[in-house]
Amino acid sequence: MKKIAVFTSGGDAPGMNACIRAVVRTAIFRGIEVYGITYGYDGMINGNIKRMQSHSVSNIIQRGGTILKSARSESFRTKEGRQKAYDQLKSFGIEGIVAIGGDGTFTGAKIFFEEFGIPTIGCPGTIDNDIYGTDYTIGFDTAVNTALEAIDKIRDTAAAHDRIFFVEVMGRDSGYIAVECGIGGGAEFVMVPETETDLKKVVKSLKNLRKSKSSSIIVVAEGDEEGNAELIMDKVKDKVNDEDKEFKVTTLGHIQRGGNPTARDRVLASRCGMAAVEGLINGESNCMAGVVNGDVTYTSFEDCIGKTKPLKGDHLKLIEILSI
Ligand code: F6P
Repeated sequence: MKKIAVFTSGGDAPGMNACIRAVVRTAIFRGIEVYGITYGYDGMINGNIKRMQSHSVSNIIQRGGTILKSARSESFRTKEGRQKAYDQLKSFGIEGIVAIGGDGTFTGAKIFFEEFGIPTIGCPGTIDNDIYGTDYTIGFDTAVNTALEAIDKIRDTAAAHDRIFFVEVMGRDSGYIAVECGIGGGAEFVMVPETETDLKKVVKSLKNLRKSKSSSIIVVAEGDEEGNAELIMDKVKDKVNDEDKEFKVTTLGHIQRGGNPTARDRVLASRCGMAAVEGLINGESNCMAGVVNGDVTYTSFEDCIGKTKPLKGDHLKLIEILSI
């Protein structure tokens, strides 16, 4: 393998830059020319492909976002778009690809590999931590810590005014961010899509609130089946029906996607980036480099996309025991 390309796709995640850096420097260390594709699959189709050197990735390990930009491509969903992307890669002589992103990115990579056969390895870059085949995804730890910092601040003002706050966090269909910042932030309730949300229980506890404590933090994962935080708050408020209780909603939103990656994310990203390049050299393909139980592993795209990663049982237990 003489030339490889790297790109980021889907929602950006803190640590993607550290991963790009590891890919570029490992490739150079191994005597491979490395190219950066900007704007994900759209950039591949449009030929936004540039040679990268060691200095191209200087001073980025600590930066959030992605120097290669990101996009969610509609054109790549079409056969015509993928053909154009293949033609572009061929014209640059690219023989291997490292795709940094989440399940949408890997779905595209799998189809592309099956159609055109260019060896491809993925690195799990998403704050959602919803990818099978890695204990954690790049960006998750940073997002949890960002949400946690916000929850700590909300708790101060919640306590000062005896208010009940519904805090909505990201995660798409996954409750991982909600669970970890809920445990870390001492939330009274955590609502996630993976388990049925018992609003009756929440209402009952909030009705009794004055007896035990005066303020509450309820963390709501954006994918919860009862709706978003605003909707859930309305339902609960209606049932609690107590004019003395004040309810507020805070939606943390895209703040969770930015910021300097934590040490844990930088190390994970660097390990996955190096493993992706080493994997390509050793003939691995159509799979993702992740870290399971502390060790680097390769998991087929098929499993990464097709299998679900359940929440940890003891996490759910902790929430139950430590809540209201
Ligand atoms: O997948 C990452 C993520 O931040 C999800 O948690 C969220 O649902 C989604 O992306 C938001 O996407 P966008 O930035 O396109 O609004």
